[in-house]
Amino acid sequence: MKTKARNCPTESSAANPGCPCRANAPTHRGRRRALKLGLLGAAWSPLTVFAARKPGKMRPQAGDHLVFAYGERQGEIISPGDLTLNAKPIEAYPKQLASNVIRDRSRLNALLLVRLDPQTLPPTMDKYAANGLVAYSAVCTHTGCTVEGWDPATQQMSCPCHGSQYAAGNAAKVLMGPAPKPLAMLPLSINSGELTVAGAFSRKVGFKVNKY
Ligand code: FES
Repeated sequence: MKTKARNCPTESSAANPGCPCRANAPTHRGRRRALKLGLLGAAWSPLTVFAARKPGKMRPQAGDHLVFAYGERQGEIISPGDLTLNAKPIEAYPKQLASNVIRDRSRLNALLLVRLDPQTLPPTMDKYAANGLVAYSAVCTHTGCTVEGWDPATQQMSCPCHGSQYAAGNAAKVLMGPAPKPLAMLPLSINSGELTVAGAFSRKVGFKVNKY
């Protein structure tokens, strides 16, 4: 059967499948589109989804333990007795015991662990604090510096980059900007003397990039 392509001045057949004007041939645009779709498919393949969900990069999960992020005891599990009332927060990372993986492959998992007087905490912190132990994201909500400063008298955490201050005893409320939002809280629990994560962060961790 003879066929004639749209806009093709000549005919092609089984004996002569080639169309001299190439109107029937796949275009480069078509090939590029197919290539793009292929790449997109690869980007969302189960393999890449699995890679994105590697335990070391995943956000803290319920049941995770917490370990020292730095110092002589780096990598050791933190127990409630390691924290002193109103002392400078301990920098920590979550750890999945089953896989023996510390979730330190993402900076967004950096935590500040502090012990406060449970009698002074507001009811809004009840479901996050465990006997006065509170875990906050260490990532400043302004432009993402690590919140490092601590004033034991006022229990204020501060960011060294632009001076934002957060109230440790009041859900990391912003006391002084430019930080736009409180630090995220991570719920904790203590079972049989073990300190573990009880759930997901209270809000999205990190900061928003402004587009000008
Ligand atoms: S990054 Fe913390 S105040 Fe700017």
